[in-house]
Amino acid sequence: MRRKIIAGNWKMNKLRSEAVELVKGLIPLVADVRDVDIVVCPVYVSLSTVYDLIKDTNIALGAQDCFWEEKGAYTGEVSAPMLKDVGASYVVIGHSERRQYFGETDEWVNKKTRAALKAGLTPIVCVGERLEEREVGRTIDVISRQLEGGFAGFDKGQIGGCVIAYEPVWAIGTGKTATPEQAQEVHSFIRGWLKDNYGEEVADKVRIQYGGSVKPANARSLLTQPDIDGALVGGASLKAEDFAEIVKAAIV
Ligand code: PGA
Repeated sequence: MRRKIIAGNWKMNKLRSEAVELVKGLIPLVADVRDVDIVVCPVYVSLSTVYDLIKDTNIALGAQDCFWEEKGAYTGEVSAPMLKDVGASYVVIGHSERRQYFGETDEWVNKKTRAALKAGLTPIVCVGERLEEREVGRTIDVISRQLEGGFAGFDKGQIGGCVIAYEPVWAIGTGKTATPEQAQEVHSFIRGWLKDNYGEEVADKVRIQYGGSVKPANARSLLTQPDIDGALVGGASLKAEDFAEIVKAAIV
């Protein structure tokens, strides 16, 4: 039985004071949840502040990206060991917004994921097709290309240390959620891909989150699908009550 994981991707939202307010609101709402991994991913500049508030709670800290080098002349970048140093235990990698607006490629995803694992972080590696790709029936092609590239050269131990997030781009921030069946179909493909490439044990272990307009109202129907092991939540993670409800929908 895979433990469910609900992560809030705050994206580029919340000033530090607002981040404090959000997390202070969330802590008591989920304090009695034991069987679900809960993660919040604030912007870089709020990581330390949020960590101070959650370090003795059941909420873990995640970042939204990292660079693959450990240090050096890479103006503006933040490395995986630096994230670990401020208390992060997760990092989102290859989010579709990074692919779309910042030119992130599968090769970059591969390097960043390796760097995250090396630093002792759990990468949440995002894959997902765009609307025009789904419409022409290319969903599975796109997902397999992203998996092949993102995890090229990974051994069982490395892939076993990752979480995968399936986020159809057309469902992100649009209010259009994939139906539980549409999501399950892709999750099941990803599980099969893991099995073909890394064997049954790894396939059984790796958690696959769904992301894209997850809300309290649809969380349960998604999270009860056999291959959906959690959610990566954007918009609804910005409200403590909504995020807490999604966390509770993951309790089996
Ligand atoms: P959304 O974003 O929940 O606002 O659709 C999900 C994500 O991009 O991780």
